[in-house]
Amino acid sequence: MSRIIHPASTGRRGFLTGLGLSASLFSVRGLMAEQLADTKRILTPEMTEGPYYPDKMPLDTDNDLLIINDAITPAVGEISWVSGCVMNASGQPIRNATVEIWQCDSKSSYIHSRGRNENGLDGNFQGYGRYQTDSTGRYQFRTIKPVSYELNGMFRAPHIHFAVSRNGRRIFTTQMMVKGHADNTRDHVLGEIEDAAERNTILVDFLPVPGSPLGELTAKFDLIIGRTLEEGDDHKLLGGIGKSGARGFGGPPGRGPSPGRGAGGSPPPPPGGRPPGSPPPE
Ligand SMILES: [Fe+2]
Repeated sequence: MSRIIHPASTGRRGFLTGLGLSASLFSVRGLMAEQLADTKRILTPEMTEGPYYPDKMPLDTDNDLLIINDAITPAVGEISWVSGCVMNASGQPIRNATVEIWQCDSKSSYIHSRGRNENGLDGNFQGYGRYQTDSTGRYQFRTIKPVSYELNGMFRAPHIHFAVSRNGRRIFTTQMMVKGHADNTRDHVLGEIEDAAERNTILVDFLPVPGSPLGELTAKFDLIIGRTLEEGDDHKLLGGIGKSGARGFGGPPGRGPSPGRGAGGSPPPPPGGRPPGSPPPE
């Protein structure tokens, strides 16, 4: 059931306070210990970007999707702190990577001109956010717990889209889904991940924050990228967001890696070849 969150807790100051609170919940020390203990890492599967990556960016693109700029009214939905670590297969954090997320609102509408449900949209939901990982590879968002949707004849169980860019190039695209959700059995994208262990890496518990008067939830989702990531010749990380790999609206559904095309000042792919760090062709 959706709830309207209390505006007083969702202002900019409130969000920063919340970040500090949440940071203590997921201490860096705890993350590192967890990484060391987990010697057998299962790579996060790459999944389709889908057709609803924003075709027009919202006015606000920060990591608080509940509030657009300094708006008074927050989005409708179950407040969820989504956080985790971006790392390679060895467990080394991938720092200075840009993590983008996007998802539909509580009315099952995306901030995409072709992704609107007939019920309209929640104009207070940012629908998209980005965050640059810190030195420990951490990212964090405040958003709503995702809901199911049926758009343009396609049903999807609740999910949040993720994209990771580094040095201005998209290096990874996947989706996070809700562990144990009844609609998962109807979701064809999830169903295409045949390996149970692999599938389990994208199924995430949404757990209550103890003592939260707002009924906030936390969801921890690590992205383990099984690809060698090259830094520039000068070993500097340039930051920036890679171009969407969207096939555009009406493109083929299903999982499968994004094309990983470069953009935003990054060099174009070499003729007849793939850019460094891009996934292999399907
Ligand atoms: Fe989607």
